Amino acid sequence: MSLLEDATATPVVLGGVRGGPDLPTLRQDRWWVQPVVTVTVLTAFVAYATWAAFVNKDYFAGPSLHRDLISPFYSPCLTESCVPGSHPGTILTWWTISPALLILIFPLGFRLTCYYYRKAYYRSFWWAPPACAVADAHGTYTGESRFPLFFQNVHRYFFFAGLVFNVILTIDAVMAFRQPGVGIGISVGTVVLCINAALLWMYSISCHACRHLCGGGAKQFSKAPVRYRIWKTLTPLNANHMVFAWMSLVFVALTDLYVRLVASGVIHDYGFHF
Ligand code: FES
Repeated sequence: MSLLEDATATPVVLGGVRGGPDLPTLRQDRWWVQPVVTVTVLTAFVAYATWAAFVNKDYFAGPSLHRDLISPFYSPCLTESCVPGSHPGTILTWWTISPALLILIFPLGFRLTCYYYRKAYYRSFWWAPPACAVADAHGTYTGESRFPLFFQNVHRYFFFAGLVFNVILTIDAVMAFRQPGVGIGISVGTVVLCINAALLWMYSISCHACRHLCGGGAKQFSKAPVRYRIWKTLTPLNANHMVFAWMSLVFVALTDLYVRLVASGVIHDYGFHF
């Protein structure tokens, strides 16, 4: 008997099965682990980042500690209330609340509209669907063609904003080699800021929008050899975009935490100088 004649065969429903994850699924594996981990990590990050952005202190370990370490959540520190030494020279006098709130919208907008994170939080928080071959929790599917989800298209612009912040955080990492009052040196904080900047660059250059920007629009690679080479280089990085997304997300929070612990005097930033 052919499959088409088999009355017990699972019916194929175009657009996916709807009705929620309580409907039976043929999957025997623990498909729910990934959504649970995603919800846990993203919720923890949002809670920590919100607290760190509003607390408005201990974001800069400066000359009094012979260090030049600034939290990535507060860089560039542009307001008049920034602690001395933490701002790059430009001061906005009209902004009176936490300087982190002025800048976090750009890196968070970049992550919120990221193609990978969209997949992750649509599945985990919205259950649309929770996993492959598990029923979608919603009755209809409208994609990202309507308000507010069509705003996700701004990702390509947030990509450029992300590059600007990568440059700034790279400068911060280089500046962290300065140890005011003692000279040039390397400390744990220097290494932390360097790794943070490197991971953020890996996250950005593995971005789908970046890969498309570099090679996606080329009609004939034979006539665009440089773009082809860049595209070929970025493609394996793009395949690991999810890994860079999680690593950079967790590490940027750990970097803020490390600077915070040093700046508040809870730990000493061990290192040496020349
Ligand atoms: S697709 Fe994730 S940062 Fe662009």
